[in-house]
Amino acid sequence: MRDNDKMRLFAKKTILWQQQHGRHDLPWQNTRDPYPIWVSEIMLQQTQVSAVVGYFTRFMARFPDIAALSRASIDEVMPYWAGLGYYARARNLHKAALIIRDRFAGVFPSHFEDVLALPGIGRSTAAAICVFAHDHARPILDGNVKRVFARYFGVTGDIRSKAVENQMWAIAEREAPTSRVAAYIQGQMDLGATICVRRAPDCPLCPLRRDCVAHQTNRVNDLPARITKKPRPHRELQMLVLLSAEAVLLEKRPSAGIWGGLWSLPEAPRNDNVRALAKTRFGITLARGRKPQALSPIEHGFTHYTLTIHPVVLRVGGIDAVSGTTGTLWLNLDDVSGAALPAPVKKILLQL
Ligand code: ADE
Repeated sequence: MRDNDKMRLFAKKTILWQQQHGRHDLPWQNTRDPYPIWVSEIMLQQTQVSAVVGYFTRFMARFPDIAALSRASIDEVMPYWAGLGYYARARNLHKAALIIRDRFAGVFPSHFEDVLALPGIGRSTAAAICVFAHDHARPILDGNVKRVFARYFGVTGDIRSKAVENQMWAIAEREAPTSRVAAYIQGQMDLGATICVRRAPDCPLCPLRRDCVAHQTNRVNDLPARITKKPRPHRELQMLVLLSAEAVLLEKRPSAGIWGGLWSLPEAPRNDNVRALAKTRFGITLARGRKPQALSPIEHGFTHYTLTIHPVVLRVGGIDAVSGTTGTLWLNLDDVSGAALPAPVKKILLQL
């Protein structure tokens, strides 16, 4: 066990500050019972303390222990979560209560790996529960802690990247004390929530400011860094909906590229004359007196670009030659819903 002298400055200052200025009277504090600690940590995963307090109090009054929660049906639990958001949290909480009843004889597990294996509990939440309930020495890493680390240690990479996530866990492991761990992680949460906030942090009140890289180098507003992604390029094209009686002409796409190997509607550049194209590419003449009819455009997002599709319906009068050869087929409109077509193409055809 690392003694107090060897404790790193970051932990030492955080703990001292938490003891003097941190939060000590939240409804889930001052207990070692893992159940309320667990419920609170789940509620606090994506929700601020001020919004959680009322929900936590009502939840505990209705489901005071694991036995009560595991006796209830999920339909009885959901009303106590209504309005809090991220409802998978409630479903996982209930599922975990049944697992604890069935596999742990109703007693909340005390081994980190068992806690981590419960639904809805990730590495940081498992650590928080084990620290607060069982005095384990484990670091946490939530959004608040990441922000404090990014500023204090001057971590400049994109806070949302996997590389920075890994770097942050390494810092968390390195800085974690082995004694007074509960005060340490509560201090990190309290600092992140009350002083080292995202906008306009209150640096004059911060116990870490003297060694804080961001504060010392005037980069408090630049850290943590968020790399704003370049907007995806945008493309537009026409899709020809060549209709003959109750069938539509499809083309097989080349196996490389988007929708590789799928059947799809013939495409044309945005401003090409579709009537001429139908003739030259497929030997198709439009029905007499029928003009090409534009349908509402459809937006589709790919990983690397967004696409606006302008569908144009052309009623076929005569078919000369090209259609029906390899690489094209007439699909009966009744068969559209079962066909393996790109999603936006199916959408266009289903609205006909
Ligand atoms: N956020 C996550 N866990 C918390 C806790 N135990 N107290 C305050 N804020 C938190």
